[in-house]
Amino acid sequence: MEYRKLGRFRIDRAVAQGGMGEIVRSVDDAGREIALKTILKAFQENETFRDLFQREAEITFHLEHPNIVKAYRFESIGNQLVLALEYLDGVNLKDVLRHIFDKKLSIPLVLVLFMMKSVLRGLDYAHKKRDKHGKPLGIIHRDLNPSNIFLTYSGEVKILDFGISKATQKDIHQLTPHGELRGKMCYLSPEQIRGRELDHRSDIFACGIVLWEMITGKPLFLREHDSEAMEAIVNGDYTPASKLRVDLPKAFDDLLARALSVNPSQRFKDCAEFERALDTLAKKFLVPGTAEDELSIFIRTLFKKDVDENDPHFMSGYAWLLTQIKGQEEGGIQLARRIALQYATSPYIQLNYARCLLWAGDKIEGLRVMRRLVRVESLEEMAQDILEWSGVRRAPVIQFLPRSNLINNALGRIRHRILGPTPFQQQFLAA
Ligand SMILES: Nc1ncnc2c1ncn2[C@@H]1O[C@H](COP(=O)(O)OP(=O)(O)O)[C@@H](O)[C@H]1O
Ligand SMILES: [Mg+2]
Repeated sequence: MEYRKLGRFRIDRAVAQGGMGEIVRSVDDAGREIALKTILKAFQENETFRDLFQREAEITFHLEHPNIVKAYRFESIGNQLVLALEYLDGVNLKDVLRHIFDKKLSIPLVLVLFMMKSVLRGLDYAHKKRDKHGKPLGIIHRDLNPSNIFLTYSGEVKILDFGISKATQKDIHQLTPHGELRGKMCYLSPEQIRGRELDHRSDIFACGIVLWEMITGKPLFLREHDSEAMEAIVNGDYTPASKLRVDLPKAFDDLLARALSVNPSQRFKDCAEFERALDTLAKKFLVPGTAEDELSIFIRTLFKKDVDENDPHFMSGYAWLLTQIKGQEEGGIQLARRIALQYATSPYIQLNYARCLLWAGDKIEGLRVMRRLVRVESLEEMAQDILEWSGVRRAPVIQFLPRSNLINNALGRIRHRILGPTPFQQQFLAA
């Protein structure tokens, strides 16, 4: 294969081209897959651009987190500035949302929550990042929108593009080539639109917009004209998500309203608090345990990438996701059962069958499958979470400590002696 060379990098193919830069897939001299980010030719000589790009590189180098794209190196090759990033094999959330919209599908809520929680974890880390002297770096993403959230085929969630995170809003308006901000206006916070001083809560607002869109499949503030979008944002004018999605518990509207408060002081105080609020709702309304594996299956199915109908692990996760879609529950349970009967010794497959039943089928049968599973070491934590969700187990006494913590264990025993078994515990033991 013929490669074009750029310094030590062999260029493979273009991945994406934005208004100002481009991303190409390449291989470095160590044979590692790399995503090279460069500034488009037309802007190479622009000093402000170069500064901004350099700042993106610096910030990305500071950040080391599983939910943020990793930077390898930043160099100048000839006159060209090049940022080498880990290459991510997957799609961005914008592509996913477009697919969902075109096919009139919706993203299972369990996956929406997993993705949002991952983004919040990455952002919380960046917001609180300090330099080596302990001084807060004050990092704000400022441009959080679906094209800057990446989902790999193996189910990882990564935040991209801290490109304008240090730029002022004035910079952005001056810098952005004509027309480039279009369609991005609808991901700005009210304080960004008003040109006010920003802090990390601006990103929380943007997360609220993205969450609303993942839930409903529609962009929240997209209007025919940007001016209308901006007006809606500063006035807090939008439709509650539950009006557009029938399976959405009303409590999610309140959570979204908090993230989307026009006044920053009424929002979550940080991303960690936002994440905890999501967790609380998830515990109440959704079966726990959906994470990378299931996101991977979802994305691969959506983009027809490595879909293997003979892979029982894949098909079992797929069955679980089916039960999360209105009207598909019965099909999901039947598929999960068929696979579970064939692969009686696979914990993941049995667990999927159990949660399909607990969610949408015969609960007693689900408990029976769980009973066989709780002794499987690798699933202990998730199995316990599911038992808690289904009412068999009570929540740990001290919520922020793991169930297995010695103090929780002791307190749990005392509580059990006083309160006795939960109603479902009796069913569970009888199952
Ligand atoms: N490390 C990467 N690996 C694979 N694809 C990437 C990577 N970084 C970016 N991309 C793709 O390129 C697009 C634009 O990248 P981004 O860094 O957001 O540039 P821009 O500043 O032009 O918005 C992303 O939406 C994503 O699809
Ligand atoms: Mg981008």
